[in-house]
Amino acid sequence: MSKTFNRLLRGPLSRAYSSPVTSSCSRRIYSATTVRTAAASPVPFRPLTTTTTTNRIPQKPPTRWIWKKVGAAVLAGSIVVAAVFEWKDAHAEAHPANRYIRLSEVERHGQTSDRKWVTKGKRVYDITEWIEVHPGGPVILQAVGGCIDRYWDIFSVHKKQDVYDILEQYFIGEVDPRDLVDGKVPADKVEDPFVLDPKRDPRLLQHTQQPCNAETPSQSLGSFITPNGVFFVRNHFWVPKIDEKAHVLHVELSDGTAKAYSLADLKSKFEPFSITATLQCTGNRRKHMSENAKPASGLPWNVGAISNTMWTGVRLRDVLEDAGYSRDGDVDDNVRHVHLVGAEAYCGSIPISKAVDPHGDVMLAYEMGGKPLPRDHGYPLRALIPGHTAARSVKWLERVTLSEDESPSQWQQKDYKCFGPNKEAKDVDWSTAPAIQETPVQSAITEVGVISGDSRKGRAELSRYGMKEDAIRVKGYAFSGGGRSIIRVDISADDGKTWSQADLHQDETKGHRSWSWKKWEWVVPKAEAGRVFVVKAVDECYNSQPESYDAQWNFRGNLTTAWHRAEHSEDDQNVGASQEQSWLGRTLGRLSL
Ligand code: HEM
Repeated sequence: MSKTFNRLLRGPLSRAYSSPVTSSCSRRIYSATTVRTAAASPVPFRPLTTTTTTNRIPQKPPTRWIWKKVGAAVLAGSIVVAAVFEWKDAHAEAHPANRYIRLSEVERHGQTSDRKWVTKGKRVYDITEWIEVHPGGPVILQAVGGCIDRYWDIFSVHKKQDVYDILEQYFIGEVDPRDLVDGKVPADKVEDPFVLDPKRDPRLLQHTQQPCNAETPSQSLGSFITPNGVFFVRNHFWVPKIDEKAHVLHVELSDGTAKAYSLADLKSKFEPFSITATLQCTGNRRKHMSENAKPASGLPWNVGAISNTMWTGVRLRDVLEDAGYSRDGDVDDNVRHVHLVGAEAYCGSIPISKAVDPHGDVMLAYEMGGKPLPRDHGYPLRALIPGHTAARSVKWLERVTLSEDESPSQWQQKDYKCFGPNKEAKDVDWSTAPAIQETPVQSAITEVGVISGDSRKGRAELSRYGMKEDAIRVKGYAFSGGGRSIIRVDISADDGKTWSQADLHQDETKGHRSWSWKKWEWVVPKAEAGRVFVVKAVDECYNSQPESYDAQWNFRGNLTTAWHRAEHSEDDQNVGASQEQSWLGRTLGRLSL
């Protein structure tokens, strides 16, 4: 258990931090029990103030009472039995589950009340003492005064017995039947956390709306800079509504000292800089893995969970130094990781070596594509970790903490890891695989089209390539993590029997290393082309992509990078895709010039 965790658990900064998943759980439950016990005897819960809003729950025949009478009659004087009933009475007092509570009363016990209540199903809980030690941090406050069911569906980590046991310790009564419709809390009383989500560009290809998960359409994957409106969106939860003027970034060092920065502080105190960088979702191309090997869990992203733009902000290393973290002198072994925590509860961590690397370009970004960050992309502040999987570039950044341990969140400890093709989730010890940081080399075809000599425009285009006959043009992207540049893109028009090299675009990039994707294209006479095009890329370390999906299958479908195939259909001079028919077939635009 880290020192940092102990400190955080004690202090008001207790948040989504805690020890690694399993060991910490028992500790949290112990903490909760301790708190509850301490509070239980004098004021197990605050007495309800109005008689109009509460009633006694009609009791079934008081079994306990009957047994008490019988017991008393039969075994009067028995010290043992008396002790038993004494325990039962005390228990009943500590769990006074005998009240009906109006929903209006629950609403009054919201964020501004000193006692904080929630409902789950028909049951009401006073969770005031739990809030401080909640492993998910103060995001829990979002639900107080209302119903938590929706949140528990979103954060499925709660759906297990030990969490239900914790909740039951805070039971104070049931929702008054007068407030129920068909025996349930009515839907309009269940808060929708997504109600304030922004409107999205209709061109985005949405996989889910709540939370929003949407890919960049293939037409927009053709340009080096992805326009903000069609930059892929990967949200884990709702989009927090943040007032830029009130937003504060807390930076906490391993010795507990902390410093707070407003957006204005960051912009005025530190030198701004810009880089171009690609963000790629860890699940990009998962659909291909699921369809060509076997189903993997997670959203079926096609080729568009990746985008590139210019980012502007300040260096995390500069801010850490200002907060008191010395970059000179001996390496501090107490600091191995930097935790990044978002306002909606998402969090993760990166190694300190990346955070302070002068060539690492780790940024606290407030602009994207020359404009303030859109709300879906972290407004007003996000982390930007170039070369790492996008899951580490935490949006709506609220807190940065130095620690000797990685983030304990499920997104660090579980979700973004890979295991062997023979493993299923039930088989694995999660702690044996490292959390994904830098990503492997990747490439994909985003456009296949015919250039036809039938039109003037087509003939002009063909002559640009020094060709007279109809041709097929294939376009796409290639990208490697860690700032490794793409040195080659191999492409085949006969399903991998023979290969050529695609032309790499020389786009203008910014940054110390190659943080951006490489656009490429290849034109082949139509007469020489078969039906299936295949692409694979090579990075500066001569890493290349694996041929088969089977060999790289992992049950989470992470880091799908096997050779990408797209099919050209002769029949209609149009673009088709054998393995991505449902989406590529619809979205790869016809290119008949
Ligand atoms: C009211 C009763 C609640 C209880 C008793 C409770 C309990 C817990 C527990 C025990 C965990 C740790 C689970 C584990 O790591 O195995 C946890 C995590 C978490 N909870 Fe809650 N929770 C409650 C409400 C909420 C609400 C209303 C929200 C959101 C609005 C929330 C958000 C989270 C988040 C984000 C995590 C961390 C997930 C992660 O790190 O992987 N919780 N909660």
